[in-house]
Amino acid sequence: MLRKLLIGTALATSFAFSAHAADVKEVQMLHWWTSGGEAAALNVLKQDLAKEGYAWKDVPVAGGGGDAAMTALKAMVAAGNYPTASQMLGYTVLDYAAAGVMGDLTETAKKEGWDKSVPAALQKFSVYDGKWVAAPVNVHSVNWLWINKAVMDKIGGTEPKTFDDFVALLDMAKAAGVTPLALGGQNWQEATMFDSVVLSTGGPEFYKKAMNDLDEDSLKSDTMKKSFDNLAKLVTYVDPNFSGRDWNLATAMVIKGDALVQVMGDWAKGEFHAAKKTPGTDFLCYRFPGTDGSVIYNSDMFGMFNVPEDRKAAQVALATATLSKSFQSAFNVVKGSVPARTDVPDTDFDACGKKGMADLKKANEGGTLFGSLAQGYGAPPAVANAYKDVVSKFVHGQIKTSDEAVTELVKAIDDAK
Ligand code: BGC
Repeated sequence: MLRKLLIGTALATSFAFSAHAADVKEVQMLHWWTSGGEAAALNVLKQDLAKEGYAWKDVPVAGGGGDAAMTALKAMVAAGNYPTASQMLGYTVLDYAAAGVMGDLTETAKKEGWDKSVPAALQKFSVYDGKWVAAPVNVHSVNWLWINKAVMDKIGGTEPKTFDDFVALLDMAKAAGVTPLALGGQNWQEATMFDSVVLSTGGPEFYKKAMNDLDEDSLKSDTMKKSFDNLAKLVTYVDPNFSGRDWNLATAMVIKGDALVQVMGDWAKGEFHAAKKTPGTDFLCYRFPGTDGSVIYNSDMFGMFNVPEDRKAAQVALATATLSKSFQSAFNVVKGSVPARTDVPDTDFDACGKKGMADLKKANEGGTLFGSLAQGYGAPPAVANAYKDVVSKFVHGQIKTSDEAVTELVKAIDDAK
């Protein structure tokens, strides 16, 4: 569908702008980085480009997980109005590439040696048909707990190693009168948490079969039912006002000590960083209980559009800056993610960042690095949306039992495929 919608405009755009004009010294970027930590990270890029004389034309579309941003992008592209680049997740890059609207950064990639420095798991999504169409910015990981250290000390908690330990810890917070679990009731947040629950409940092989291979037997298995039961258990520890809450407000509850823990991707650490909080002293980062040794990842990519000739130099400057080693360190320290290159030292990263980098390397080598289904790296957007929808209906009581949830999940994924 995307392909039909876009191909006509791709041609119109390239003819309309084929004349050679002076280079436009401006980068236009669509993104959903509107929280405090995200804006601080984006500033690192704006400043790097400003040093090279490029102005920044911001196209922010609020909404974590990027669903609203992707709707806005679709409209822009359909109108032939391509941004220099857009933040995108995994399979979305491939969809736009298949629609024939992406540019070709292969020459820059060769010059800069991206083939050697960017992990293969990311190249699967940034290279289409042998051409580099996107610049990976980072690697995020979703199977984390973010815990307020003072609250943890107050309740006498220790690192939960299993799901049952986690439930016991949440009970301790509840008994102390603190909201145990900070969650935003938006479908992408609920599904992002559920990614971790599935990995914890079923283990690495199960996660891969169900959430990446979409194996039907796994999707309707007792293990998947148990995963939904475990999700239902976690939801009992959420405060009554969670519906619709933004993810960064849930993080703020933990930062302020109004809640013990948030289960969220490591963009949450960007909020702790922006609030000048230190790991080990103010907050703790643990892997979601029962998932140690595995990493569920997503990666922000700057999808590069086939812009007119006079905007290509700016695009190359953006891509080159994005994948430079210094930017990969400086940006990811602030963003909470880890570098999208394997050759960046961890020197400037805090303890959670160092752990994130070490975990990623180990998971990559050990075959336990898996794409997040909620975050666009498990399956194409239609399937991911179907998944988010079912998980959210279950969390909000529109789907009442785990039996019903797996039936709905299999059906929704089947229809979306
Ligand atoms: C992106 C992160 C972003 C988060 C919340 C995720 O989909 O990968 O970069 O911080 O959404 O907005």
